[in-house]
Amino acid sequence: MAYSAPRGTKDILPQEVALWQKLEETCRKVFSFYNYQEIRTPIFESTELFARSIGKTTDIVNKEMYEFKDRKGRSLTLRPEETAPVVRACLENNLIGTDKTTKVYYIGPMFRYERPQAGRQRQFHQAGVEVFGSADPMIDAEVIMMNVRLFEELGLKDLGVNINSVGCAKCRPDYLKKLKSFFKDNIKNMCEDCQNRFITNPLRILDCKQSKCQIYLDDAPHSVESLCQECGGSFDQVLDLLGDSGLKYNVNKRLVRGLDYYTKTTFEITSNQLGAQNAVSGGGRYDKLVEELGGKAIPAVGFAIGLERIIELINNQQLTINNDGAVKLYIAALGNEARKVGFDLINQARAGGISADMDYLGKSLKAQMKTADRVGAKYVYIIGEAELAKKSAVLKEMKTGEQIELEFSALLEKLKSETA
Ligand code: HAM
Repeated sequence: MAYSAPRGTKDILPQEVALWQKLEETCRKVFSFYNYQEIRTPIFESTELFARSIGKTTDIVNKEMYEFKDRKGRSLTLRPEETAPVVRACLENNLIGTDKTTKVYYIGPMFRYERPQAGRQRQFHQAGVEVFGSADPMIDAEVIMMNVRLFEELGLKDLGVNINSVGCAKCRPDYLKKLKSFFKDNIKNMCEDCQNRFITNPLRILDCKQSKCQIYLDDAPHSVESLCQECGGSFDQVLDLLGDSGLKYNVNKRLVRGLDYYTKTTFEITSNQLGAQNAVSGGGRYDKLVEELGGKAIPAVGFAIGLERIIELINNQQLTINNDGAVKLYIAALGNEARKVGFDLINQARAGGISADMDYLGKSLKAQMKTADRVGAKYVYIIGEAELAKKSAVLKEMKTGEQIELEFSALLEKLKSETA
């Protein structure tokens, strides 16, 4: 084989696409149900947009960006996430304001130069939502509930909703001070990354996966214990709203997200069936980002789902997704004359709104029946020499095996009368 897909990327093959389409369709359906509208932004943006928003000291910006110079020397980056591009697009097109709520969603590929492993790719896909304009904890609750509703709609089981609050510009400095004084004696024994984090962003130490650092994390102070009155109040309200709705959640005081823009509520939904990369979605509030990127002080909240991980769960949990895309009619024809009649019939079927296909390789009847089965055809109509003479053939329903004799001229009417 001459070429292979770049490391960390995957082809999504025709036999997998039905599942992807169903997943995307379910995302669209649930998001629209909650009054979110789709937005599509470019695959690349100026590098500065991501550095500013995600944070210069994060792994994403420091180590994982697909950054390149265009022919005029401008620094561009393939989007590692879509919150910052959506903020940019909404500001540029005047879609958001302090006096209105704007709800948008997106579905598409993201790019991070990470070490590929199960559930972690360099090109992966997210479906996400962003809400602008409201600081009301009800919106935090709405997005979390919508995320859970989507997973329920997909039939996913055994998921955990983890929630935390990382505070705001008022209370975070105090918390960071506490963290620094907690780590100061041991930081010299911790990994090099953590030593840098200690200086640039001590919150990120809590997310370190190195075993030599883990031992120091257990007793570290938690952000929820340092929240100001406003952040504490809104965290309690979010939890109350979720509790009242019957949603089960877990306050995970050590939940630190990999992006710097969060304020107040953060959350992640995890699965215990995915191994190390167990987060199927993540998000939270980011009340300062719009202002940071040149807009007014407009509060915002959102989340993004990792679609590869959802596909993995659907496959693991053996959930069946209806293969609506399969053809309704497959014509198995033997001999040139029969194939001509078959060609005419599939084209009439298509003109009448019925999806249809036939064999173009002159295969045996047995092989044609196999193909019909593989493509998920609902019916097969079998035309040979004898059928040509009587202008009538057998229509077989693949699932039930039921067969009826139908004249060529009656075939379309019969298929059209079927609703499914
Ligand atoms: P994130 O936690 O970086 O958040 O990504 C969200 C989800 O994308 C993760 O939970 C995971 O399922 C999936 N994901 C991330 N990296 C990879 C990867 N390398 N391979 C496969 N899946 C991956 C964000 O991106 C934020 N923009 C979410 C957000 C929206 N916050 C507010 N609004």
